[in-house]
Amino acid sequence: MDIVFASAQEAEPQAWIEALRDALPGARIRLWGDGQPEGHADFAVVWAPPADLFVREPRLRALFNLGAGVDALLCLPGLPDDLPLVRLEDGGMAVQMAEYTLYHLLHESRDFGRYERQQAEVLWRPLDDIDRAAWTVGVLGAGAMGARVAQACAALEYPTAVWSRSGRAVPGAESYGGEAGLVAFLARTRVLVNVLPLTDATRGILCRRTFEQLRPDALVINIARGGHLVESDLLAALDSGRLRAAALDVFEREPLPPAHPFWSDARIRVTPHVAGASLMDRTVRQIADKIQALNRGEVISGVVDRNRQY
Ligand code: NAP
Ligand code: GLV
Repeated sequence: MDIVFASAQEAEPQAWIEALRDALPGARIRLWGDGQPEGHADFAVVWAPPADLFVREPRLRALFNLGAGVDALLCLPGLPDDLPLVRLEDGGMAVQMAEYTLYHLLHESRDFGRYERQQAEVLWRPLDDIDRAAWTVGVLGAGAMGARVAQACAALEYPTAVWSRSGRAVPGAESYGGEAGLVAFLARTRVLVNVLPLTDATRGILCRRTFEQLRPDALVINIARGGHLVESDLLAALDSGRLRAAALDVFEREPLPPAHPFWSDARIRVTPHVAGASLMDRTVRQIADKIQALNRGEVISGVVDRNRQY
């Protein structure tokens, strides 16, 4: 069995290759572009792979993504229509996404920014007690990431809801589904957390129309994809006071260009696409288990539905 590893962003690809070799003894695993003979790979393990992958590796039986979101893979020129794409089903990202959300939720709901300013002024002044009912959390997406984010917020007794295509239930959260459920979901939400996949149906969902339907003084947390956000609408909603703040981990252009206005906007907290990193041990174990299952002729989970795009 031949496996090619191709990750444009991975600083230490050799460590991943060693981990794959440990998990799949007997497999021939090589790094894309290492000069060894090409064209024999059965499987590719990738993140932002080169566009000529499919020309140079025409025998692939499946393409394993090193992350949850497959939007970039689906845009790759030459991607064969019948090649199964397998997304990562929580390679340790979900708990990090929950941490990220809680950090920003708590910062706003407990007014920790104000305490930081008070410390700078040597000011001892307790603020009002927290009113959890005023901090309704709404999570867009109820999959591996969304469910964990929602459960973390609900565990701290923030009134929490999830919105998904199917109206999937998440313990501890109210559940809304489809276009019909979106209006009611937004109307009850003050802290909007986006963990949807980027698809034709979800692109630009964080826009003026959405912001206008939220409860006043809202917080937006985008940890899914930059393509979900209409940047000019976010700035306008912050300027008008419709939104109080935003926490953004993902951007239409990454790295975020140095001259981008988000960098210097005190109402926006920027992180460099780190909300939920794929952890090597869990990721490699999951992919190796699925490769072994395919070799036994079994059906695996996480295969992307090309029509739904996730
Ligand atoms: P997932 O398990 O496939 O879940 C996707 C969820 O979105 C499902 O609940 C699905 O509804 C819902 N959904 C999809 N299209 C929809 C639509 N048109 N309307 C309403 N709901 C819709 O995906 P995941 O593993 O949770 O990952 C979600 C996304 O998070 C990824 O695609 C990626 O972009 C992002 N992510 C970012 C980071 C980071 O570091 N920033 C890390 C990991 C993931 P159903 O349940 O009805 O199918
Ligand atoms: C990260 O962005 C992922 O999709 O896993």
